[in-house]
Amino acid sequence: MGQRTKIKALLESEQTDIEVVVKGWVRTFRNNQFIALNDGSTNNNIQIVVDFENSDSALLKRITTGAAISVTGTLIASLGKGQKFEVKAKEIEILGDSDPEKYPLQPKKHSLEFLREIAHLRFRTNTFGAIFRVRNSLSFAIHQFFQEKGFVYLHTPIITASDAEGAGETFHVTNFDLANPPKTENGEIDFSQDFFARPTNLTVSGQLEGELAAMALSDIYTFGPTFRAENSNTTRHLAEFWMIEPEMAFYDLNDNMDLAEALLKYVIAYALDKNKEDIEFLSQRLEEEEKQKPQAERSEMNLLQKLEFCLNNDFERVTYTEAIEILKESTPNKKKKFQYLVEGWGTDLQSEHERYLVEKHFKKPVILTDYPKEIKAFYMRQNDDGKTVSAMDVLFPGIGEMIGGSQREERLDKLEQRMDEMGIPKEELWWYLDTRRFGACPHAGFGLGFERLVLFVTGMGNIRDVIPFPRYPKNAEF
Ligand code: 4AD
Ligand code: MG
Repeated sequence: MGQRTKIKALLESEQTDIEVVVKGWVRTFRNNQFIALNDGSTNNNIQIVVDFENSDSALLKRITTGAAISVTGTLIASLGKGQKFEVKAKEIEILGDSDPEKYPLQPKKHSLEFLREIAHLRFRTNTFGAIFRVRNSLSFAIHQFFQEKGFVYLHTPIITASDAEGAGETFHVTNFDLANPPKTENGEIDFSQDFFARPTNLTVSGQLEGELAAMALSDIYTFGPTFRAENSNTTRHLAEFWMIEPEMAFYDLNDNMDLAEALLKYVIAYALDKNKEDIEFLSQRLEEEEKQKPQAERSEMNLLQKLEFCLNNDFERVTYTEAIEILKESTPNKKKKFQYLVEGWGTDLQSEHERYLVEKHFKKPVILTDYPKEIKAFYMRQNDDGKTVSAMDVLFPGIGEMIGGSQREERLDKLEQRMDEMGIPKEELWWYLDTRRFGACPHAGFGLGFERLVLFVTGMGNIRDVIPFPRYPKNAEF
């Protein structure tokens, strides 16, 4: 297909007056003379200068917004303002036409809501180009962070028979004819005839399997899709999201917090370095968007400053009990401004409370620890006070919960007792309990919601805009 140079490389070229081949999609075509061409390698377009007097007018007509073209020409220092280089075209080939009457992406500002409806084309906008390049860098950085530390990347199953979190928010997996499933004599669905001969679901977390591997490989991490059928129509929830779940043998809660903080700082620093232009673009986008808001609701820092701030400050580590005291005494609680008032110890924190703590009180990322056992999963290690567990949630400004994790209960008797109390079937999790029978050891881990991380680093406001094709209630288009 010929030696094509990507636009990012062309714009960084040290040489001019060289022959180049450049391919991409037309953003705009002005005065029958200037094509702004983009190939997704950067948000910057390369300007193609067309010798329109000596060009076939039928060809010029086909250079429309959205068309795919190939240009052979000379890279020259630009005479115009706004760009260093441009390509003086010798030959232009239309690879794919785009009917300007029908192409939905016009060279103007479209709303994010509209772009969500044409998610198959939104990659072609500056905003989404930048988001998905940042998303790419963040996923690479996550692997690099763990690989440098000798962690083993583990693939845990997508289809499972367990509900790791015990929250009952799973999608069923079956190959029954749903209109006519086989029934037992009692008239119940006969799962023994289903594909796996038992009820199965899409995984909500790879943690339990991750723990099994950590009990041999020491340090593992997963990075894969997880599925939750919670009916949360919010800007922070997806039905299908990607999660990173490290699990470490011989770690306690402090080690776990240190690792979580180091991971977040590492990947944010990596993206700031690798994707500076994209993040600067997204920072400006956010500033523009915030101009629509009343002064009081605008952020004190722009996106770049927020990211730098996060790198340069220690996360605040606070117990749940301390947090409840702060919240009880807070102005929005006293003035009954919270939707859910904080009455006392034991209640679960709502996202309004989490955001108050990070955005108003501490004004930085916060790690909340030692939650009441009643509001946390069965596998979390029970503290000596008999009331709390060694849990940790990492809360971020503008996001709320970014990470949830804990030290794990490694003592068989305590774990079984908690499973009984919470109605978790021990027979089904015999393999999980076996790790507590054979060489149990202190261990800990956490889950990082990847899209929430991408939200924070891109400064976007809705989780549906940081995954290519979001899955949420009543939507599985594309
Ligand atoms: O707090 P969660 O439910 O924890 C677990 O699943 C544990 N098994 C993790 C572990 O210890 N290995 O989920 C972890 C993170 C949350 O902090 C949040 O960032 C993200 O996953 N998350 C979601 N992200 C998008 N959409 C949803 N519906 C999410 N539910 C959780
Ligand atoms: Mg959680």
